[in-house]
Amino acid sequence: MIDVKNICKNFGELHALKNVTFSIKEGSLCGLVGPNGAGKSTLFKIFLGLLEANEGKIKIANETINFGDTNYKRKIGYAPESPQLYDYLTEIEFLQFIAAAKHFSGSEVENEIQKWINFFDLGGKTNELIKNYSQGMRRKISLCAALIGDPPILFLDEATNGLDPESSYKFKEYLRSYCQNGGTVLFSSHIIETVEYLCDRIIILHKGQIKQELKKNEWEDLRGQDSSLEEMFIGLVRE
Ligand SMILES: Nc1ncnc2c1ncn2[C@@H]1O[C@H](COP(=O)(O)OP(=O)(O)OP(=O)(O)O)[C@@H](O)[C@H]1O
Ligand SMILES: [Mg+2]
Repeated sequence: MIDVKNICKNFGELHALKNVTFSIKEGSLCGLVGPNGAGKSTLFKIFLGLLEANEGKIKIANETINFGDTNYKRKIGYAPESPQLYDYLTEIEFLQFIAAAKHFSGSEVENEIQKWINFFDLGGKTNELIKNYSQGMRRKISLCAALIGDPPILFLDEATNGLDPESSYKFKEYLRSYCQNGGTVLFSSHIIETVEYLCDRIIILHKGQIKQELKKNEWEDLRGQDSSLEEMFIGLVRE
């Protein structure tokens, strides 16, 4: 579903991504972990056409993606690490705007918006502006925006940050069933426990390079009985 070959991204002298190559199968829930500054968000932004790679090739759903292409984005739901919202809209206005941007129309729009508002227990306040929302509520609106229209691919950059335990649990359960039904997810997080619990594959990025790529059974074998994935991650990054 996602195929990345030799992606390089430089910011001046800084090599933020160096020859990053991997693929993700349809129906996979792939975790992307790495220390601060490893290049995770840069990679998401390249997928979304928000940054242009210096080198490399990306294929999404068998389509080669060139910088500036837009059509493929209909297949993607993206929740950035910092929610990008319009503060002077209400949550419903904002989500209506997102639905329109996704070319959603007709009677399903309101049902779809309401479905996600109910899922995250947002309440659909009609008079409150987003600027008065708490951090966690902003995160929920950002996730609603990514999920509206049920896109087949989700790019989630630290998407569970700030969610309360119940919402986080519910969302993680949703992601599991989403992938069982053929959805594909790339999910970054600093909470290794979450990644371990949720993902069937993990990519460890360090200083712009893939340090390790593991399937669930591989990391379970590798880390052994006595250590956690967190300890293994710290060991790899320290090396
Ligand atoms: N627009 C930019 N201009 C210059 N440098 C940038 C830019 N965006 C990112 N960088 C640099 O690229 C590197 C990778 O940043 P990135 O945001 O991808 O890291 P990250 O893995 O997402 O980190 P975190 O876990 O802190 O979110 C960092 O050194 C960062 O300072
Ligand atoms: Mg980041």
